[in-house]
Amino acid sequence: MGDYQLHFVDDYRQVWHRESDARWFIIADEKLLGLYPELEDLLPPERRFLVPACEETKTLEYAQLLIGQLIAASIRKNSVLVALGGGVIQDITAFIASILFRGIEWRFFPTTLLAQADSCIGSKTSINFQGYKNLLGNFYPPSNVYLDLRFLQTLSKKEIQSGIGEMLHFYLYDNSVFTGPMMEQYDRLIEERNLLKNYIRESLRIKKSVVEIDERDQSIRNLFNYGHTFGHALEKVSHYEVVHGQAVTFGMDLANYISLRLGLMSEKEFDSLHRLLKINLPEYLLDQTALTDYMQTLAKDKKNVSCNLTCILAAGSGRLVKKEIPLDDRLRKIIEMYLNQIFCPTDLCAGQ
Ligand SMILES: NC(=O)c1ccc[n+]([C@@H]2O[C@H](COP(=O)([O-])OP(=O)(O)OC[C@H]3O[C@@H](n4cnc5c(N)ncnc54)[C@H](O)[C@@H]3O)[C@@H](O)[C@H]2O)c1
Repeated sequence: MGDYQLHFVDDYRQVWHRESDARWFIIADEKLLGLYPELEDLLPPERRFLVPACEETKTLEYAQLLIGQLIAASIRKNSVLVALGGGVIQDITAFIASILFRGIEWRFFPTTLLAQADSCIGSKTSINFQGYKNLLGNFYPPSNVYLDLRFLQTLSKKEIQSGIGEMLHFYLYDNSVFTGPMMEQYDRLIEERNLLKNYIRESLRIKKSVVEIDERDQSIRNLFNYGHTFGHALEKVSHYEVVHGQAVTFGMDLANYISLRLGLMSEKEFDSLHRLLKINLPEYLLDQTALTDYMQTLAKDKKNVSCNLTCILAAGSGRLVKKEIPLDDRLRKIIEMYLNQIFCPTDLCAGQ
């Protein structure tokens, strides 16, 4: 797809002063303006487009609205779209950049942990359609990514937990030696965010090693769906109350439990992974009604190629396998057992 550069920078403002010019049209998370007052001067009012970072922004309707505004502001084929924000801002900006005038340059300043440790590389653009997440999209990399860790200071605890969940999934794919230390330092990392730098690097190293072989997600990159099939369904059923990376943590734990029940994973392996994963599980109660909804959502997962569920299961850390499993009563019972015996935190389930 072509090379692009990722730069760790001490202060994004220096890059901005050095590189920005009248060709830059900036799509920014509207929340950032209140948190970073300097943006008022950095973003020229006639070329700034402030958008809310929510799933409704990642739609064709919203893209159409933004494209209209960009054209009205005289964007040209040689203009540069600049995304300033997390994964939502990235997805909508990259998608627009990929189709406007058959493709224009875009650059990315990721401001969430998830975007810095994961989505900023890999070239995917994603748009939600009719309530289904990331159903449309293509591959369209930025020309440059500028990573300034100071943006992490203003993130909520939940957003740090979300990023950690996504990093954990790369670590478990790779059986990384960073897994134990990251989870042992969990509380500290939430407080002292500058300590996240090496963990971000490790996450990007793993993702890069796979994307370089299979950028278009035709073979081994599929394994990064570990935790995602079961996680996306939880995000949807919870109406996005559960953040992405914590939903992925739930998804990995559930995938491991299914692997255990299907005889792929040993009890010992499951327990040792569960001890790590439970540190980052979301506090969310999935009751019987929601379970029916959950099963229906799994049935509509975009990766399914038949009436079976296509998902990634595991024999252990670093030993992932792609499987198709029947979406039947047996699967529902296994998921029910997981929810009742493993996931369900006592205080949440007490009132059930
Ligand atoms: N394209 C890809 O490869 C890819 C990969 C993974 C996830 N995604 C997508 O990314 C999205 C999730 O991204 P995300 O987790 O970055 O969330 P996000 O962009 O929705 O941001 C999360 C929250 O953090 C706020 N925020 C952003 N930067 C901030 C900062 N520096 N300080 C304080 N608050 C800040 C936002 O306003 C928002 O409320 C999902 O839609 C997911 O599908 C895309």
